[in-house]
Amino acid sequence: MAQINQVAEGIYRISSFSPTVGISFNQFLIDDEYPTLIHTGTYPLYEGVRQAVSEILDPKRLTYIVVSHFEADECGGMGRFLAEAPQAVLVCSLVGARANLMQWDYAGPVRGVQDGEVLELGRHHLRFLETPHVPQWDSLMVVDETTHSLFPADLFGQPGDQPAIVREDLSKLECQWHRENGLFAAAEPVLHVADRLEKLNLQWVHPMHGGSLPGEILPHYIHGLRSEPFAFDGRLLGRVLPS
Ligand SMILES: [Fe+2]
Ligand SMILES: [Fe+2]
Repeated sequence: MAQINQVAEGIYRISSFSPTVGISFNQFLIDDEYPTLIHTGTYPLYEGVRQAVSEILDPKRLTYIVVSHFEADECGGMGRFLAEAPQAVLVCSLVGARANLMQWDYAGPVRGVQDGEVLELGRHHLRFLETPHVPQWDSLMVVDETTHSLFPADLFGQPGDQPAIVREDLSKLECQWHRENGLFAAAEPVLHVADRLEKLNLQWVHPMHGGSLPGEILPHYIHGLRSEPFAFDGRLLGRVLPS
């Protein structure tokens, strides 16, 4: 089963480390009146993630499944979660709804949100930021305004088997990792998002890879993005493409 840690009031980090790829895959469960899962994990991770969810609440109660962007680690398990909770609504960006989830092999409810929209879960209020090209066209980020928590998907992630909470500045490592993998096509959209995030008075950052970051360390990670190269330079998952 995946590892479970409560990382903020009512927010549980469900983490599976993959020794093969050397990174963790994190999902976040918000236990509230309308229970919400942010990222489902990949299809192969489903059993472990489901079991971890069921330690906290009945997976049948899931009301919202947030898809930060359309990649397997964000949404590969959604089909089976939705089969068990058919009332659940898939929440993604408007681009994600139009380009992906409403055109997929799925007829259930999909809600495409725009920048600034808020979703009330009970005690928690989620506000969405459209963050195109960070790293995908359909990307969004989520801010829980109750705990001042940011869910940035792949941004601010750290490779390796990190503890649930990381208090170290691993921003250099983050930038090297992104560059090696070629995840971000360009720096400009990322730096634009970093400028926005800097103004939000965040107390927590919960990336989908690595540990959660306390707000006071975030300026170091933002500084890392501004000072270290991290965008695509011809490498893809460590391979150098022919020029
Ligand atoms: Fe991703
Ligand atoms: Fe990811």
